[in-house]
Amino acid sequence: SGDQDLRGRHVVVSAGGTREPLDPVRYLGNRSSGKQGHALAAAAAARGARVTLVTTAPTEVSGVDIVPVETALQLRDAVREAVADDADAVVMAAAVADFRPETYAPTKIKKTHEARADGGEDDSAPTITLVRNPDILADLVSSRGSGTAPVIVGFAAETGDENGSVLDHGRAKLDRKGCDVLVVNEVGADKTFGADDNTVTVLRRGSDDVVEVGPATKAAVADAVWDVVTTLL
Ligand code: C5P
Repeated sequence: SGDQDLRGRHVVVSAGGTREPLDPVRYLGNRSSGKQGHALAAAAAARGARVTLVTTAPTEVSGVDIVPVETALQLRDAVREAVADDADAVVMAAAVADFRPETYAPTKIKKTHEARADGGEDDSAPTITLVRNPDILADLVSSRGSGTAPVIVGFAAETGDENGSVLDHGRAKLDRKGCDVLVVNEVGADKTFGADDNTVTVLRRGSDDVVEVGPATKAAVADAVWDVVTTLL
């Protein structure tokens, strides 16, 4: 929609995959490109919103305040701070790592024999212990209270399986997370990650209506998401 229906609103978008460091040169990451989140930020700005984009993927989007982050904990803090600044809506498009390494090695982890003074052979491998990251989306929901701003939007990358369709899994996730809107996209080896097109189903809490979009550009998907969000503002 070409109108300025987000004028006067502050919206927060998170984008990209978090990087969870192991040592100064290595991290655990994922394949999220951040493109859908960046398209959401650009679309909101075009519709007149003040936009804060918290992203792990370096980018410039004109008319958007960019907050660069790397880890899930940094992303949580940045999103919380932006939401506390009178946000009307928050869209969690970021692919947040569910786990992070328990410890960060301040110097590069070495193969064992390299670390030893004698430099002898050693085939042993280190064990990486993981700990849970907070669920940022669920925490936003529980700290908001009921019926007040901001509108909270989650994303879910799902695959259909013997336990249910992509939509079944999406409905269950919407209930579990308690957000207002869930944007479900079907993922597979060749789908979505890094692509310029996307196919999604937009679910609303308390409504059986679904909005199906695509295959469409990530810009068109972004506008469809804001179309739903504006009905809830
Ligand atoms: O449970 P799942 O990871 O599929 O949920 C995806 C949604 O939850 C996305 O909106 C993502 O940004 C958010 N999420 C989060 N914190 C996590 C994991 C996911 O906010 N630790």
